[in-house]
Formats: sequence, structure tokens, C-alpha cells
Amino acid sequence: MRPLVAGNWKMNGLDSALAELGALRQRLAQAPVPEAEIMVCPPATLLARAREVLAGSDIELGAQDCHPLVSGAHTGDISAEMLADAGATAVIVGHSERRIDHGEPDSLVNAKALAAYRAGLTAIICIGETEAQHRDGETLDVLKRQLRGSVPEEARAANTVIAYEPVWAIGSGLTPTPADVAEVHGFIRGVLSQLLGQNESGAMRLLYGGSVKPANAAELLFVPDVNGALVGGASLKADDFYAIIEVYR
Ligand code: G3H
Repeated sequence: MRPLVAGNWKMNGLDSALAELGALRQRLAQAPVPEAEIMVCPPATLLARAREVLAGSDIELGAQDCHPLVSGAHTGDISAEMLADAGATAVIVGHSERRIDHGEPDSLVNAKALAAYRAGLTAIICIGETEAQHRDGETLDVLKRQLRGSVPEEARAANTVIAYEPVWAIGSGLTPTPADVAEVHGFIRGVLSQLLGQNESGAMRLLYGGSVKPANAAELLFVPDVNGALVGGASLKADDFYAIIEVYR
């Protein structure tokens, strides 16, 4: 299965990120890594400009969130259809920063994933345990609950990517051991198999996210059942993001 390396810019990118994106594009044109699918997810306001920077390249565009509905009186929200119109082919849903900052429950994440399918977008559904849940040994229970609640019955390998991001590893420089990642990803694959059947589960890409850097990318991304990465901070610099992508060459 072709791995996916997706960069989540979060609420960053006003300054140098578009220039960095241009540099990444150039770098990949000079030294392509066809083994990996590459995506960047800028803030919605930068989608159109990022699309211009990427015109004619294989780098895909994703968005960071969507509203479940197509349109209506929802001030400040953006529908999946609008993201598709702006050039996105995928949207992240259920990132822990939205689950925590905006109190998004699994049912809403599920509805957002369905909205993504409706608009023809791939849903990148994020799950992950908090530090307290990790410390209390609840990781697998939390992930099972999040998968059951957040992954729609309609999820297929062709329209869905799952991103496992331990909340305590995001932006902290901490990462689980490769053995822990292998255990968790194997568990996720098993739960997806119960929910969606073995064929879809076996073909669905499972990304690891949380402090992925050039220095640890190889040890985290070649773990069994890891099919790519969701990269935050390191996706803002062309050199760092390229160095992560390059592990697949
Ligand atoms: O969506 C990306 C993740 O939250 C990871 O962020 O690479 O800055 O730890 P990070």
C-alpha cells in the first residue's frame, strides 16, 4: 500500500509557509519520491494560494476541519463542499485539538467524515489518547471507543485514512516506542476489521502522528501497520518535511 505523508500546518502559515511549500515542490521535482503520496493541509484561508503554488505538481491539498452540513446559517464554519471547491481532496476530522479545544464528540467527527465522503473528499480521521489516559493504561479502550464512534459504516479504504496521534506526543518531542506504535496500530487494524471487514481494514492506511521529525521518521514509519505520517511542526519547513518523506525512497 502506498504510504501517505500529510503535513498539518494547524493555525500557522501566514509568514513563510507558502514559500516553503514552493521550495518543497521544487525539491520533489528535482528528487521525486514516487513511493509516497504527499499532502499538505494549510489553514482554509491559504488553500487557494497553496493550490496555485502546487498547480501541476503531485502534492495534494487537504483541509483541517469541515462542518457536517453543505451550507446554511453556521457563522465561521466551512463545508466539505467548499473545501473541495477550494482545491482540497481530503480533510482532517477529529484532530485532538478540535476534540479538546471545541469539545467535539465522536458523533460529530463521524458526521464530519460523512460530509467529507459526500463532497468526494478523503476523511483523515484522527484518534488518540490523552496523557492521563495513557498513564492510566486506558489507551486501547479509548481508541476502540473513538473508532466505534468516529468511523462511519460507509468508511472504505478508498475514502478514509486513520491517524493515530497520542495527544501527549503532539508537539512535545515525546514519542511512543516503535514497539508501542506497532501494538497500537495492530490493535486499530483489528478494531477496523470488526467494524468494516477484513478487506477494507487491511487496505486502509493508518498514519502515525505526534512529534515526527527527520531524526525519528525512519524508526516510526517502518513499524508494521504504519502506512505514513501526519506531521505537524516539521511540515512547515521544506527541508524537514522533505527529509521525512525521503525515508520512503
Ligand atoms: O496533526 C499533526 C499532529 O498533531 C502532530 O503534530 O508533529 O507538531 O507533534 P507535531
